[in-house]
Amino acid sequence: MRRDPKTLVVIGAQWGDEGKGKIVDLLAERSDIIVRFQGGNNAGHTLVVGGEKTVLHLVPSGVLHHGKTCVIANGVVVDPLVLLDEIDALRRRGFLARDEDLRISEQVHLILPYHKAIDLARERLRGQGRIGTTGRGIGPAYEDKMARIGIRIVDLLEEDTFREKLSANLEEKNAYLRSILGEDAFAFDGIFESYRTIGERLRPHVADTSRLLDREIRSGKRVLFEGAQGTMLDVDHGTYPFVTSSNCVSGAVFAGSGIAPGLLGRSLGITKAYTTRVGSGPFPTELDGAIGDRLRRDGDEYGATTGRARRCGWFDAVVVRHAVRLSGLDGLAITKLDVLAGLDPLRICVAYRSGESTIDHVPAGTRALARAEPVYEDWPGFGSLSSVGRLEELPANARRYLDRITELTGAPVRIVSVGARREDTIVIDDPFAWAAGAKPGCEPNNLH
Ligand code: GDP
Ligand code: IMO
Ligand code: MG
Repeated sequence: MRRDPKTLVVIGAQWGDEGKGKIVDLLAERSDIIVRFQGGNNAGHTLVVGGEKTVLHLVPSGVLHHGKTCVIANGVVVDPLVLLDEIDALRRRGFLARDEDLRISEQVHLILPYHKAIDLARERLRGQGRIGTTGRGIGPAYEDKMARIGIRIVDLLEEDTFREKLSANLEEKNAYLRSILGEDAFAFDGIFESYRTIGERLRPHVADTSRLLDREIRSGKRVLFEGAQGTMLDVDHGTYPFVTSSNCVSGAVFAGSGIAPGLLGRSLGITKAYTTRVGSGPFPTELDGAIGDRLRRDGDEYGATTGRARRCGWFDAVVVRHAVRLSGLDGLAITKLDVLAGLDPLRICVAYRSGESTIDHVPAGTRALARAEPVYEDWPGFGSLSSVGRLEELPANARRYLDRITELTGAPVRIVSVGARREDTIVIDDPFAWAAGAKPGCEPNNLH
């Protein structure tokens, strides 16, 4: 096994939408292969390149660089219709010109129309108690995978297997949809015929991606793993049950792409300079009033997948510290620092108070987290960052704010993002350089 694999995983350190797409696009220039390994088209990753905005749901965020290989690994759940639309739209713009530019694992599980219908109907029936899912069928598809009745893309490509599995599934799903959820049933023929056609269109991309990645990493290629969602949405370590249905921590890379643990080099966490969440569930630093509205307006905090308004609040160091520990994050990319310009003071949550006690970690109980009161520190604000291109140009108060985040979370700030465009980024420390040297320490960067 190589001692220093040139591989890096990018993980969302909050509740998703941290700017993973922007940072992956930036780092993809220095990568050979970019890999999605969990989640599905619940993700919406935004890239702003050359004045044009691209939102990706399934295709990895390295796709706007020519000559790279994008991989959708086995841990992803794939809605074939959405994927095909995404491929077609990218091809019209001149990307993914060759079939081998996109590789899809044979083992990805498919999202079929009944998964979406079940997801939407359950949310409707839950009313006020809804999770606030993206309605894309993610949960029901992962349920089938775990129940060992899921349909993989390799099954879709074998006509008899697809026929057998689809018909067994429809029998069960239709009964459930009709009698429990009060929904219409699905007809076998409609799904069978149309999905067979879609399967044939996807066939040229389908490959054994576990062996491909193993081979390429061992031969010294740079591989970038692109997380979706965020640590607080992880099905085990997030705010269960208000989470997604996959693991979003760095450990998910191994099962989700079929590479061995020794082949992962470094982990980079992405966090906004404040916090957002879309969907229901506890959010200790949420701001209901004017400051929350201001963050939403200036940060354009509306979902890239569903268009829903995101809930906004102050930076929560307890949450990001949780992410640093769970994913062994070697560093952080702080995004949207520009959005805080003009706010004074800036508040950072350093712990929670619950009754008489102060806690420095995320409690597992839903009610316990809902009761947690943030303990804030106030920091002086800073002005506009619009012309900032280098670290030295950041106002002293902005650098102090970043240093404090490093101290509180235990992870050094490696990248600072001050705008949505690719070029609005300050790279303090090239993450791919870490792979060659010693593991970085966790002392503040002393940015001032
Ligand atoms: P992802 O799901 O983690 O990839 O993040 P999203 O794309 O859902 O949401 C991040 C949003 O913030 C997108 O609209 C980005 O274009 C935008 N964005 C990313 N970084 C910055 C930044 O530093 N400043 C500003 N103002 N916007 C940013
Ligand atoms: P990216 O990759 C933000 C949230 C949903 C909901 C919960 C469960 O763009 O950061 P699901 O449809 O997954 O069953 O919904 O998870 N959620 C996200 N929130 N960003 C995402 O992805 C999300 N993917 C799912 O809003 O609260
Ligand atoms: Mg998003």
